[in-house]
Amino acid sequence: MENFTFYSPTLFAFGKERENETGSYVKRFGGSKVLIVYGGGSVIRSGLLERVKTSLEKESLEYILLGGVKPNPRSGFVYEGIELCKKENVDFVLAVGGGSTIDASKAIAAGVVYDGDFWDFYCGKYIENALPIGTILTIAAAGSEGSPDSVITHENGMLKRGATGDAIRPRFSILNPALTQTLPTFQTACGITDIMAHLYERYLTNTTEVEVTDRMIEALMLTMIHEGPRVIEDPNNYETRANIMWAGMMAHNNSCGVGRSQDWNSHNIEHELSALYDCAHGAGLAVTMPAVFTYVCQHDVKRFAQVAVRVWGCQMDFYHPEVTAKAGIEALRSFLISIGMPKNFAELGAKEEDIPYLVDTLCNSNGRDGSINGFVTLSEEDCKKIYQLMV
Ligand code: NZQ
Ligand code: ZN
Repeated sequence: MENFTFYSPTLFAFGKERENETGSYVKRFGGSKVLIVYGGGSVIRSGLLERVKTSLEKESLEYILLGGVKPNPRSGFVYEGIELCKKENVDFVLAVGGGSTIDASKAIAAGVVYDGDFWDFYCGKYIENALPIGTILTIAAAGSEGSPDSVITHENGMLKRGATGDAIRPRFSILNPALTQTLPTFQTACGITDIMAHLYERYLTNTTEVEVTDRMIEALMLTMIHEGPRVIEDPNNYETRANIMWAGMMAHNNSCGVGRSQDWNSHNIEHELSALYDCAHGAGLAVTMPAVFTYVCQHDVKRFAQVAVRVWGCQMDFYHPEVTAKAGIEALRSFLISIGMPKNFAELGAKEEDIPYLVDTLCNSNGRDGSINGFVTLSEEDCKKIYQLMV
């Protein structure tokens, strides 16, 4: 295991009706004038936004509203939010929605207290300061409610990039599983896929002797494999929603990624797809992961065989471990298809003729110099072959 520092100070308020306590948490973490950020309207239709407003009013907190975050949030919205916060002297940013709303809120919170262009953070500058952030989560997926990360797409070039910094870890996150019951089935499945990806991207490590985090990841994967089909079958099952929601947080606040190198090649390869085609991140990952894993399997057959046996219940073939490893990848592929995820470029709305463009932006923008690094270093030629496997 490698040395590590783990700092995760977010307060989690989990369970039914916890959103009615929002005002008290904003107050506890120093807010007096709040920017409420939300997406395309699901929180209006569900009545959640009204309940949140009532809770802030009960604590005599001022607020202003900024709705309209799109999935795969864009830079234009962030610039608008930063200007609004400065003009209105906002001192707290409250995200009500999914990963896109939370990520846009994080970008705004960091941009308000920064003299330069907020995009600097998405080109590699570490986020040192930000306004305090709170979240009320409505979809179990991105894990942004417990992560120090934000992913934004710049409209100039449609570059989808991530930024990081402990300053943008939410001060509090309210997780009421019942709020996720209004999700369309497709979005629920996208969330399940993203959670599985966050687990795989940590499982694929070059660090040895990481038994504790291996076992934590396996437990979370097994939970998702158990609960995924149940929630697709019965979207109103609160207990299933609860297990998925907490697994989604655990998968990405990095408690199971500490002390080990991590992968993130699948995420980087996918981000080019959701940037260009505006597809759901989880749907893009469903097509990307089996292709990447097939391509890099030879790098560490034992690790792929281990997850196949421990998580997917495959039989270990000691003479041909690569057969076991591949069976695990196929089990993942079948699982994703079974919950309604796309399996190839066509189903995702991606085009084979765009592969040269995808490879070029993936490997040569934002300071990258012809490759991406993760579990395996992938050259432009490797990435081209991986995209071709998805066709
Ligand atoms: O916009 P509204 O109207 O709210 O509708 C949303 C949106 O259309 C809808 N939705 C959310 N909760 C709902 C609901 N509809 C009905 N009932 C509810 N309870 O679902 C759609 C998708 O929402 P979005 O916020 O985009 O989903 P998700 O949480 O999957 O976020 C995806 C974004 O997060 C980034 C992704 O790249 C993508 O941009 N990620 C962020 C990470 C992070 N910050 O740590 C890590 C992830 O790997 C990921 O890259
Ligand atoms: Zn993700």
